[in-house]
Amino acid sequence: MRLDKLISDAGVATRKEAAAAVRAGQATVNGTVVREPDRKVDPGRDTVVFRGTPLVYRQFVYVMLNKPAGYVSATDDRSLPYVLELLPPEYRKRGLFPVGRLDRDTTGLLIMTDDGQTAHRALSPRRHVEKVYSFTCLAPLPPDAEAAFAAGMTLGDEICKPARLSPSPDRLSGTVALTEGKYHQIKRMFERLDNKITSLSRETFAGIPLDPALAPGEWRDLTEEEIKTLLAAAN
Ligand code: URA
Repeated sequence: MRLDKLISDAGVATRKEAAAAVRAGQATVNGTVVREPDRKVDPGRDTVVFRGTPLVYRQFVYVMLNKPAGYVSATDDRSLPYVLELLPPEYRKRGLFPVGRLDRDTTGLLIMTDDGQTAHRALSPRRHVEKVYSFTCLAPLPPDAEAAFAAGMTLGDEICKPARLSPSPDRLSGTVALTEGKYHQIKRMFERLDNKITSLSRETFAGIPLDPALAPGEWRDLTEEEIKTLLAAAN
């Protein structure tokens, strides 16, 4: 692959910046300064150092975002703020997209990647990848709500998989664990119980928790360990 592409894929510069920096002599390949951005390099064999830092080639990028309210889980939107806008240009250029959607008013953990196969598999209901959401609701949940969630609720002509509802003692908040992602699923499940969600936030995806250090709108790369967990859950 091209040297400037390897540098931008590593997430340290945009393709344009990488090309300019290479021309300016800021990259070495196997210890030798290379000034041609189109020089062919083998990510598995060649050692590329960019601005003094050895690069680790990343075939795919996996990001954890603390989605703020008001953003749509889309890669593009003409009229509304969208989550991709919260990532830096070199990630936007890689074509990252969200692994499953959160409603515009839902906050919390959104994993974004350019690994289409893993994203697709992680979302397949057959893989039973668990997502845990915390919620608040308008009215106290009735005593039989846990059983209704566990039995697999019917929403119109759709039958939900069994879900785990764990209310707080006052039954006005708690968590819901789902292994699928139907349209507005949790909101519709609460409506089915004549209740209403007043706030919803995703806490975990495939057992990966939202990093509490991330303020709304902040993101970080998944750690190696988290990537392994995601790949294991999806594959
Ligand atoms: N269920 C919903 O109703 N909304 C979400 O954003 C996620 C799950």
